[in-house]
Amino acid sequence: MSKPLRVAMIGCGFMGRAHSNAYCQVNHFFQREHKPVLKVAVARPEEKDKLEKFAAAWGYESIELDWRKAVTRSDVDLVDVCVPNNMHHDVVIAAAEAGKMIVCEKPLAMNLAEAKAMVAAVEKAGVPNMVSFNYRRVPAIALAKQLVDEGRIGRPFHYWATYNQDYTISADVPQGGMALWRLDVKVAGSGVTGDLLAHSIDTAEWINGPIARVTAVTETFVKERKHAETGKVEPVGIDDACLFLAVFANGSMGTFVSTRYARGRKNYNTFELNGELGAVHFNLENPHLLEFFRYADPKTGQKIEDHLTGWQTIHVTNFEHPYMKNWWVPGCTIGYEHTFINGLADFLASLEGGPKFQPDFRSAMRTQAVCDAVLESAKKRQWVEIPANP
Ligand SMILES: NC(=O)c1ccc[n+]([C@@H]2O[C@H](COP(=O)([O-])OP(=O)(O)OC[C@H]3O[C@@H](n4cnc5c(N)ncnc54)[C@H](O)[C@@H]3O)[C@@H](O)[C@H]2O)c1
Repeated sequence: MSKPLRVAMIGCGFMGRAHSNAYCQVNHFFQREHKPVLKVAVARPEEKDKLEKFAAAWGYESIELDWRKAVTRSDVDLVDVCVPNNMHHDVVIAAAEAGKMIVCEKPLAMNLAEAKAMVAAVEKAGVPNMVSFNYRRVPAIALAKQLVDEGRIGRPFHYWATYNQDYTISADVPQGGMALWRLDVKVAGSGVTGDLLAHSIDTAEWINGPIARVTAVTETFVKERKHAETGKVEPVGIDDACLFLAVFANGSMGTFVSTRYARGRKNYNTFELNGELGAVHFNLENPHLLEFFRYADPKTGQKIEDHLTGWQTIHVTNFEHPYMKNWWVPGCTIGYEHTFINGLADFLASLEGGPKFQPDFRSAMRTQAVCDAVLESAKKRQWVEIPANP
C-alpha cells in the first residue's frame, strides 16, 4: 500500500538539492510503502527568485518565505532541515512541537546544550528522527563496518582519520553568505571541528565504538576576514584546522586531522583501522574502493589461503555488498548523491517496521559531545573526558 510522505524542505542550497534528489529517486530504486511528496520549499525572502527556480526544478508544490509557517502546516508530515547550523535548534524544536518527523543535517547543533534540548524535544514528541551523516551510506564504508563487526580485524589498536580541504587558503575569501557562513562562528558554531570532523567522529564511533577522551590543538591561520553581509573586516572565530588524539572505550588509540588549508585536497575524507588480524582503509576520493588487509600466521596455516596475507582492493559494486543490489550491475559505481538516497531508504524502512534508523538525534548528540570536548581541550590545553551518556 502506498503512503504519501509530505515533505517541507527548509533551505534550498547544497543540501536542499542533495535531499530533494533523494526524495525524487528513492522509490525508483528501493521498494518502500512511503512515497515522498515535495510539498513546500522554504528560504528567506531575499532568496525568493532562487527559491522559485529551486521549487520548479525539483517539483515542489509550493514555497514559503517563513520557515515557521511551513513546519506547522497540516499538509506536512516531515520537516527536512537543510539550513545553516545556527538554525537547526529552533526549526527542530518547532517541528517536534508540531508533531512532524524530522530529518536534520549535521552537525546536529551549535553545541551540546542545544543538541540535548533537541533530543529531549523529539523524544517527548515521539517523532521519528534522523541526522544526515550520509557517509555511513557509502557502500565501501558500510562494508568496512561489516568486516569489523564480523571480527575480521580482531582486536583494534589504531584508528586514523583525515578530512582535508583547501578552499579557504586565500585571505580574500569572505566570511558569511551562501556556503561561506561556515567561516562565521556565529552561524557555524565552529570551523572544521563541527563541519568536517563531525563526519569523521560519526564514522569512527560507528565502526570502532565510543571515544572516551580527547586532547586537541586548533589553529586559525587567517585571523580577520571581510564579512560578506556587513562588508566590515571582522575577527575570524572558527578553527581553520584541528588535530586531536583520542582514546576509544575499547582501548584503541585514534588520530584525527582536519584542515581547510591542505592545498590540493578538496574533500579528502579517509580512515584506517588497524587490528590484530587485519586492517581496513578508505578514501572518499575513490569511494567505490575498500582496502582490506588480512593477516594469517604462516606457521599455523593449514590451507593455502591461510598463507595469502596482504592488502586487497575490493571494488564495492557487487550485489552482496551493502546497498548495491538496489543499483546497477556489478562493476558499475554509484556516487555521492546515492549516499543520501540510501540513507532515506533506510529511514523509510524504519517507518515500515525495519531496524530503528541510525544515526538518530540521540546518537548524533554523542558526536556533538565529542566535538565540544575537542574544542574545550584545545582551549584548555588538556585532556577532556567524554561521558558514556552525555
Ligand atoms: N551531510 C553532508 O555531507 C553535508 C554537506 C554540506 C552541508 N551539510 C550541512 O547542511 C546544512 C546546510 O548546508 P548547505 O551546504 O546546504 O548550505 P547552503 O549555504 O548551500 O544553503 C543553505 C540554505 O539555507 C537557507 N537559509 C538560510 N537562512 C535561512 C532562513 N532564515 N530561512 C530559510 N532558509 C534559510 C539559504 O537560503 C540556503 O538555501 C548545514 O548544517 C551543513 O553543515 C551537510
